[in-house]
Amino acid sequence: MQNYRRDAVRKLIDKLSEKHRLSREEWSLLIESQGEREYLFRRARELSRQYYGNKVFTRGLIEFTNYCKNNCYYCGIRRDNKEAVRYRLTLEEIMDCCSQGYELGFRTFVLQGGEDGFYTDDKIVEIIQEIKDRYPDCALTLSMGERENDSYLRFYKTGADRYLLRHETADSRHYAKLHPPELSFKHRMDCLWNLKEIGYQVGCGFMVGSPGQTKETLAEDMLFITELQPDMVGIGPFIPHHSTPFAEEIQGSLEQTLYLLGLLRLLKPNLLLPATTALGTIDPKGREKGILAGANVVMPNLSPVGVRKKYELYDNKICTGDEAAECRQCLGRRMEAIGYELAVDRGDPVNCPREAVNRKIE
Ligand code: 5AD
Ligand code: FES
Repeated sequence: MQNYRRDAVRKLIDKLSEKHRLSREEWSLLIESQGEREYLFRRARELSRQYYGNKVFTRGLIEFTNYCKNNCYYCGIRRDNKEAVRYRLTLEEIMDCCSQGYELGFRTFVLQGGEDGFYTDDKIVEIIQEIKDRYPDCALTLSMGERENDSYLRFYKTGADRYLLRHETADSRHYAKLHPPELSFKHRMDCLWNLKEIGYQVGCGFMVGSPGQTKETLAEDMLFITELQPDMVGIGPFIPHHSTPFAEEIQGSLEQTLYLLGLLRLLKPNLLLPATTALGTIDPKGREKGILAGANVVMPNLSPVGVRKKYELYDNKICTGDEAAECRQCLGRRMEAIGYELAVDRGDPVNCPREAVNRKIE
């Protein structure tokens, strides 16, 4: 029985790495089994090595505002968290982060923030213009939640290259357990499809072990990702934040996060797959383990040290006391210790493999 099961799991892993898709039932089985881990991770490492060598891409994260009009049950910067000390970075402060980051070798900047009406489209356009004028060789990623399609289009025309918007869950009932009724599952999904249609390199993603998540909702996530074919998928463990409705919920597991990273690498071999800060938060070697499970991106923080602790999406977030340079060096050392090196380029997704993947799917 045991051997039979092991065999069946290996077959599913092989099938995924050849066809880059599975049926709903197959996904559920594989996700539930969490079996043949080393076999999966070896295959995942081989694939990322094949497409990206031993390079780990870096994205410099600038958390420019922690104001948010939304009230997601899991998130520490939700509007009802009165404990949160709110801040906004000025254009000058943002440009200082970029300048420091550029010196440190970052060629992608990620502007991430809550959904903050203070930053009107005009203000965002101004920020994009400044950054792209001064750093034409850098990619600019936006991660500021749901906006109107016209705004997304305007930002893209101004020069933004990429957009990260985690879908959080591809199951509408699960979505409603994580978010208050005023947030719409359909609108979020529409945003992602629109972003893709506009021409952005798109990132989606979800938390691992969020309350109400099951093997079925995770299978749905995998099917959605197969359909969307995003350039990046950000996943990290759910970590409770003490002043949210989910304060008493259970944290997501390291093991399951790593397993899903491995599966995502097989699902789309050229995927940009970050070993997230949340992963580094639940285990001191979390990000290294993530890379060894198939991830190929790290996103160190470039925000001014004075505001870092305030961008607290979850408890015990790491790197909140460290200068950008310290994080850069620390990560460089950590990656070298496991046989990888940080890349100094924009780290665009490679082209031909994606075509190869799509051909294989047909
Ligand atoms: N634990 C882990 N990840 C979280 N995020 C928000 N709150 C938490 C939490 N408590 C993630 C969400 C969001 C991203 C910016 O951070 O997936 O999209
Ligand atoms: Fe920030 Fe190690 S990555 S201190």
